[in-house]
Formats: sequence, structure tokens, C-alpha cells
Amino acid sequence: MIDMIANFSLAQEQNLMSSESVLPLPENPIIVGFGGVGVDFLAVVRSFPIPDTKMRTTEFKVQGGGNTGNAMTCAARLGLKPRIVSKVSNDAPGKAMLDELEAEGVDTSFFVVSKEGTSPFSYIIVDNQTKTRTCIFTAGDPPMVPQDLTQANLLSALDGARVVYFDARMTDSALVIAQEAFRQNISILIDAERPREGLNELLSLADYAVCSEKFPQAWTEESSIPRALVSIILRLPRLKFAIVTLGKDGCIMLENCVNDESSHIEEMDVESCLTSLKKRGDDSTAMPTCIASPVTKLRAEGIGSVFGRLYFGTSEKIPPSELIDTTGAGDAFVGAVLYAICANLSPEKMLPFASYVAASNCRALGARSGLPHCTDPSLASFTE
Ligand SMILES: Nc1ncnc2c1ncn2[C@@H]1O[C@H](COP(=O)(O)OP(=O)(O)OP(=O)(O)O)[C@@H](O)[C@H]1O
Ligand SMILES: *[C@@H]1O[C@H](CO)[C@@H](O)[C@H](O)[C@H]1NC(C)=O
Ligand SMILES: *[C@@H]1O[C@H](CO)[C@@H](O)[C@H](O)[C@H]1NC(C)=O
Repeated sequence: MIDMIANFSLAQEQNLMSSESVLPLPENPIIVGFGGVGVDFLAVVRSFPIPDTKMRTTEFKVQGGGNTGNAMTCAARLGLKPRIVSKVSNDAPGKAMLDELEAEGVDTSFFVVSKEGTSPFSYIIVDNQTKTRTCIFTAGDPPMVPQDLTQANLLSALDGARVVYFDARMTDSALVIAQEAFRQNISILIDAERPREGLNELLSLADYAVCSEKFPQAWTEESSIPRALVSIILRLPRLKFAIVTLGKDGCIMLENCVNDESSHIEEMDVESCLTSLKKRGDDSTAMPTCIASPVTKLRAEGIGSVFGRLYFGTSEKIPPSELIDTTGAGDAFVGAVLYAICANLSPEKMLPFASYVAASNCRALGARSGLPHCTDPSLASFTE
């Protein structure tokens, strides 16, 4: 009898939960994130400090941060079941970070917790005039080393995962996990912020790449972003897509399509392709949009060509009074892309969805406060 009541209320609760989420629950919602977590000390100031002066904050917040911590929090709020593999110390900030992640629905049981040392943290100065965020990061000590990952822990962390995310920090340990994920045919997404030691090895195992604005040209030394994207796909033919995010200017994605060689397809210059996509853009809406080229041979003069599809996504137009802080916008974008991969959303749906989620995050202070929940009715239209 007691069991029946318990089962009944559990079922009721699940029912309530499923009717509350406006996003479809992916068949396999388990993802793994490996990389940075930390505490963010966010200080909003009227304008950026002049050296050797004193000033006051106009607002202040202490919150969990780090690319992996933020992206996995975003994914959890969208309904995925993320696990994080990372390292903190057994100090008060370390414990607070784990508690905060657990409360968000992120599985922290695969964390390495050092008995001694200090957990990572960042000072973030948000300039309320220019809306820039300046980050001063202090790494955790002792740092993570591959010996921290036991084979048993690694295998159970990856067990049943749909996709593994890397923010390309602590690359020695990241590579150990990526190689195992690769062996198990689990998809790999890399967030490429800037060229780093070990990043190339990680990228060579990747299925998806999301890059910061400067990365494609810094990595390829090409003269424009679309040319650099072609070069990236030619160098990393495993990639299904590479996305570059451009802040308020939106994002560009190159999808790598399987060339069946059955029909003769004309080549298209990748730069003119992007220009024509931008011209076709709808400027009348504040909501994020996406425009795609046909599947074609996208050529970059002097580099080569990729059989694929180019996409241009606009960002949401946020009224200046609602734009609070862009900290973690890129992480929010990636969290939504991870959802899109798990839910098999088309790129035309994925890019506006990710841009919308990222824009929501820009409407509150810090990398996590503004992240939407899957119960938010405004998300419904993006996956329909
Ligand atoms: N000012 C803005 N207005 C609207 N959308 C924005 C704005 N800034 C960022 N975004 C959204 O967030 C996405 C990612 O932003 P951005 O390219 O700045 O990432 P990032 O530099 O990696 O950020 P971070 O390192 O702070 O996480 C953009 O593609 C866009 O959709
Ligand atoms: C930022 O500046 C605006 C306009 O001056 C002000 O209304 C707002 O309260 C400030 N926000 C913070 C967090 O300091
Ligand atoms: C690997 O995964 C892909 C999709 O994630 C699937 O299509 C393919 O069949 C898998 N291959 C093996 C060998 O399991």
C-alpha cells in the first residue's frame, strides 16, 4: 500500500515534470564535460578602473563559473543529464561549486577532489558603460594530471554518454578521455578558444567544433573567417561541422556533407557565398534567424573546396537597457548546441536556438543566472 502511494506520487511528479518541459527530451540525454570549473567573483563598476585608484562596485555576485561548469549547467537546465570530470580542492569554494552544480542537476560524482590546495577562481570586472567583461583567472592547485583519472572512473564517466565536451583546458588529461571516447564511438565536441598545446590532437578526434571569433584565422593563418572554416574542415575531415560565434554579430557554420559524387555540382566561392547569405538576412526581427546555402562545393581560392553547406545565424537584438553582462555567452551557446546534437535538431533550428539561449544569458549578471530552463515557454518555438 505504501509502495503504491509512493509509486503513484512518483509517477505524478514525473508526469508534472514532463508536461512542464517545453523541449523534447532527447532519447539519450547523457553528456560528459571535461575542463574548467571555478568560482567567479563578479564586480560591476561604472567604468573600467584606472590603475592605482580606488572605486566601489555597483553590483557584486559570487557564482560558479568556468567554461565546462557553465556549459554543463546550461545543458542541465535544457533537460540534459550532464556529468563533469574536473578537479577542485576540498576547500570552501570547492565544496560550494560542487553543491551548486548538483543543485542544477549536474552529476559531480566524477570530480577529483584534492585534500589540499586551492580551487580555481576568477575575478571578473564588468564595465557597465562598455559592457565588456575582463577576466583574471587563477588556476587551481595542485593542477589536474592524467594520473588523477583512474581507468574505472573514466569508464563509468563515459558509460552511456551521447557526446563529450572539452573546453580544451588541461589537455594532457583531456586527451586521455578523448581517446577513450573516440575508441567507444562517442561524439566529441571541442570549444576552441585559442590555439593551445595539445589542442590539435584533441581537434583531430573531434566530431564538432565551436570556435571563438578569433580562433579560425589564428589557427589557420587564413585571410578571412569563411576561408579559415574551409581550411579547418580540410585539415579535420572528421568534423561534421565547425561553428564560429561572433558575439552580437551572430555566428557562421560550415557543415561538412558527405559527397556522393553522383551529380555534378558547381563550385561556389565561400566568401561570396557568405556575403549573399548576409544579404538575404531578415533584419526586421529582433529574434535570431538562420540562412543556409544549398549543399554545394564551397571553394576557398588557393586552399581547396569542401562539399558542404554554409549557414549564417544572426544573434538576438537585445535592447541596450536589457544587456547586462556577456560573461559566459559562448558557454551558453555551446550548452544549447549540445542539446541540439542530442535532440537531432537541424542546423537551421540549432543556431537560432543557441543564439536565443546565449542572449538570455546576457540579460543577467554572471555566466549562469540568465540561463533559461526547459520549462520556459519562450523556448518552445525553436524546436517545433
Ligand atoms: N551583445 C550580444 N547580443 C546578443 N547576443 C549576444 C551578444 N553577445 C553574445 N551573444 C550571443 O552569444 C554567442 C556567443 O558569444 P561570443 O561570440 O561573444 O562568445 P565568447 O566570446 O566565446 O563568450 P565567453 O567567452 O564570454 O563565453 C553569440 O554567437 C551570440 O549568439
Ligand atoms: C548600469 O548603468 C545603468 C545606467 O547608468 C544603471 O541604471 C544601472 O543600475 C547600472 N547597473 C549596474 C549593475 O551597476
Ligand atoms: C558510431 O556512431 C555513429 C553515430 O553516432 C553511428 O552512426 C555509427 O554506426 C557508430 N559506429 C559504430 C561502429 O558503432
